[in-house]
Amino acid sequence: MGDTMEQNSILEMKNIRKVFPGVVALDNVDFTVRKGEIHALVGENGAGKSTLMKVLSGVYPFGTYTGEIKIDGKVMAFQGIKDSEAAQVSVIYQELTMLKNMNVCENIFLGNEVKKGAFIDWNEAFVKSRKVLEEVCLNVNPETPVLNLGMGAQQLIEIAKAIVKDCRILVLDEPTAALTETEAENLLSLLRVFRSKGMSCIFISHKLNEVFSIADRITVLTDGKTVGTYDTDKLTEDKLISLMVGRVLTQRYPPIDHTPVDETALEVKGWTVYDPEISGRIALDNISFSARKGEIVGFAGLMGAGRTELFLSMMGVWGRRSSGEISLYGKELSERSPSGMIQAGISYLSEDRKGKGLILMENIIKNMTLPSLEKRQHNGFIDRERELRAVEDMAHQLQVKTPSLEQLAQNLSGGNQQKVSLGKWLMTEPKVLILDEPTRGIDVGAKYEIYTIMHKLAKSGICILMVSSELPEVLGVSDRVIVVREGKIAGELLRAEATQESIMAYATGGM
Ligand SMILES: Nc1ncnc2c1ncn2[C@@H]1O[C@H](COP(=O)(O)OP(=O)(O)OP(=O)(O)O)[C@@H](O)[C@H]1O
Ligand SMILES: [Mg+2]
Repeated sequence: MGDTMEQNSILEMKNIRKVFPGVVALDNVDFTVRKGEIHALVGENGAGKSTLMKVLSGVYPFGTYTGEIKIDGKVMAFQGIKDSEAAQVSVIYQELTMLKNMNVCENIFLGNEVKKGAFIDWNEAFVKSRKVLEEVCLNVNPETPVLNLGMGAQQLIEIAKAIVKDCRILVLDEPTAALTETEAENLLSLLRVFRSKGMSCIFISHKLNEVFSIADRITVLTDGKTVGTYDTDKLTEDKLISLMVGRVLTQRYPPIDHTPVDETALEVKGWTVYDPEISGRIALDNISFSARKGEIVGFAGLMGAGRTELFLSMMGVWGRRSSGEISLYGKELSERSPSGMIQAGISYLSEDRKGKGLILMENIIKNMTLPSLEKRQHNGFIDRERELRAVEDMAHQLQVKTPSLEQLAQNLSGGNQQKVSLGKWLMTEPKVLILDEPTRGIDVGAKYEIYTIMHKLAKSGICILMVSSELPEVLGVSDRVIVVREGKIAGELLRAEATQESIMAYATGGM
């Protein structure tokens, strides 16, 4: 058995140890990938998944870690990404690296230009782009600016980029986090095609249903250590979760323990907004809704239905408003700027994937306290002690994994960055809290904690509006669901009436 496995394996990482100041990110990790398999790498936020892949790709060069990497049985000592690419490894990172103002073709060949003498042969590049776009089933002109493409298409272009480099080991770090369900399914089918051609694929995801639908084997990391590698068909989701979080999680959603108060917190009337980029396009058409004190309202809809635009325009950061009004506890709000809205009591956690709305060069304390600064000042004086205690408390509640609160945001794992940005809006002590995809990239255990916090906030009287593309999440935490379709409100469902089917029917117009 041992022998055949060695023969089948394309990649072996042994005893990998990688240390950052104050953090042992990888503690003697073993990880073996076979030829032509899809191998999922799972674990809680901060478990070391992305770091392990950065060791593999040479982002962390040979010498900055200990242990051994073998490809096809040969020991590798990558000095950088170029070296791992030469060994036919391609990594698509958690944060996409596309250059938005370049076109598709330029992005595909970025850093890997087709040369004719000293010049770039754009004709050849164009022809090759066509071919590779076909391979990833993306029907766009290679000259399309990336700026105009959605996340799904951008993710496929990243894969195209890997294919032109002839990769044999493709690593995808949370590739579906920002995709719609259909886009995610397309991506998974594509990976199955690649597998049938003998490519190996390392797939990192917090979406365990995807992991189960696609992976041949699963390796679990906790706290920088390998828990084990398992055949997918010998595991269940519950078993996998207990391996990841070290305990059994019987429920994915905490019980609802709050009742909305019969008092309107937020009222939006006749909200109509034009798209600032496409002249004449009405992005939001006469939207009216209200939300009560202590209520959690879920906003469902297809990607592009206008949910994010609705809240961005309410915060005054997007769109050309033509009409409409917002009132908070009966008082009409006239100033529409982010700071004005925060002052009034409305906070918004944006869905932004790359920056997570954080200042990456600043530490956790600074990031968490930034928007609440004005509120916390007493006669122009900030109580640093109190502030620190508040941050400690919040970081503890959200289980932010970090050696210290002075850690720079850029050094946190993706999921922990998301927790910090959630924490910073909670610290503004809002009356209305808008959460746009609050659990994107968050592990199952921490998701539960975040839902618990949401219930606690609702119980204390805060009104929460949540945008989520995961229907089970919308159903699991909302008191009421509002469905948005093509910039209009398509329907509204009470908790008791809401099902995946009833929501989808409104979302797609199939009523
Ligand atoms: N550049 C860095 N400097 C300091 N610490 C770091 C750095 N990069 C990662 N870490 C730490 O190493 C640990 C592992 O992080 P990593 O990003 O690999 O986690 P992950 O498993 O990918 O988590 P997530 O699911 O949240 O993306 C974390 O504790 C993280 O804070
Ligand atoms: Mg990660």
